[in-house]
Amino acid sequence: TSARITLARDFTVGDVPRRLFGSFVEHMGRCVYTGIFEPGHPAADESGFRTDVLELVREMGPTVVRYPGGNFVSGYNWEDGVGPVDSRPRRLDGAWHTLETNAFGLHEFMDWSRLADVEVMQAINLGTRGVDAARELVEYANHPSGTYLSDLRRKNGAEEPFDIRLWCLGNELDGPWQIGHKTPEEYGRLAKEAAKAMRYVDPTIELVAVGSSNSGMPTFGEWEHTVLSHTYDEVDYISLHAYYQEHDGDAASFLACALDMDYFIESVVATADAVRAKGRHKKRINLSFDEWNVWYQRGLDTEDQLHRVQESGWREHPRLIEDEYTMTDAVVVGTLLNSLLRHGDRVHIANQAQLVNVIAPIRSDENGPAWRQAIFWPFARMAELARGRILSASVSSDRMSTDQFGDADIVDASSTWDEENSQVAVFLANRSLDDAAEVDLTLHGFTASGIARAEVLQAPDGADRHVSNTSDNERVRLQNLPGVRVADGGVKLSLPALSWAVVVVD
Ligand code: AHR
Repeated sequence: TSARITLARDFTVGDVPRRLFGSFVEHMGRCVYTGIFEPGHPAADESGFRTDVLELVREMGPTVVRYPGGNFVSGYNWEDGVGPVDSRPRRLDGAWHTLETNAFGLHEFMDWSRLADVEVMQAINLGTRGVDAARELVEYANHPSGTYLSDLRRKNGAEEPFDIRLWCLGNELDGPWQIGHKTPEEYGRLAKEAAKAMRYVDPTIELVAVGSSNSGMPTFGEWEHTVLSHTYDEVDYISLHAYYQEHDGDAASFLACALDMDYFIESVVATADAVRAKGRHKKRINLSFDEWNVWYQRGLDTEDQLHRVQESGWREHPRLIEDEYTMTDAVVVGTLLNSLLRHGDRVHIANQAQLVNVIAPIRSDENGPAWRQAIFWPFARMAELARGRILSASVSSDRMSTDQFGDADIVDASSTWDEENSQVAVFLANRSLDDAAEVDLTLHGFTASGIARAEVLQAPDGADRHVSNTSDNERVRLQNLPGVRVADGGVKLSLPALSWAVVVVD
């Protein structure tokens, strides 16, 4: 297998939106409780934050974290999570059939986000609540002082405003499973009015309207069109969510699922721009891909799980969707990140769902260790190295055929140009299960003088594509990629079968 990749200094897509490397913390399963927060754990600090998990989060390098949901937020009262912990109410969370203690809330998340060095992306409840709760939360969080709500925040321990810039106007309200599910008309009107009222309190905030829960939703397309027709002037972004999995051993289709992500992104861009044209608007609406990942839902798995959880009664932080990721999943995650980066001119925010334990790159055992899943690595390296400008990579690769997505490039790539450090980073995936790929990289307008870094993620010796990491054995990890060489002003390398790699050219 072979591929030729051409990069030219002047052919760029735009600046790397650093918010593309976002993540997500929901009050769901063990993401918050026994994930990022576990008072009494040997590694917990005085606030109850797990420092072992925090270290892995810092190493992975998310730039922005969405909070507190997800489906959870559509039945959540933000007031329950502030004030003295002893007086916070215990509540039933209907979305995940869980007993919510509210021991962790807004102030705790803000404190944690500072330690993790991430921006906060706050979601509001537009399922069971509306305009009033939305504007009150903005006042509580962002108004300096001198009003009931801002002074309440100060009384609760935060003298300075939280200054949250980025807000999601609800979550997946197109989905019948959502508490407070709405038609596009109902949601569009509510989102517009909530946005107006929130901006009256703080005109500097950025707002994300809810888009489709996936590109297969029956209302996909119509939803975006109607919602944006109502909210165009008030919002800055429209959201997209997508989860992928391998079905019935069809690895080829699974490995090519980033083609669906491409299709989804390009369709939402087209829809947003159609609303722009019809309404004669000047500004553009950009995209917030604020939930994406590999998730083995196995048909009706979510409902099955919920059913099982229901049978065991109301419990605190039950185990929910703790997928164990394989080498194959890691390659797919690499291609999904490539898709997001290639569309970085319009996708300005993206959040891998979720951060810890719940379909997550980081796992942690209650009262036990924390570890990196296989999917940790493509995210960590791209978050670290994708800086500066996105280069428009021209890829000419051998192709493979897939049942679900037609023909796909075997070698998938994205690239960035970090002018400050004079480095070109190339992020590569080889989708072939059997063959190595010989890659020829041609550079125009750059003088390649050496290879600053070359790393590869592949199944370790003796393991197959289903290999995964466990608490005591992180078998899938980055290794040095040998044989990468500068030749004729370009770069030549060989990608092992089913691998993900990063090459940084000086
Ligand atoms: O990330 C898990 C769940 O997936 C979220 O709560 C919801 O928004 C989506 O359906």
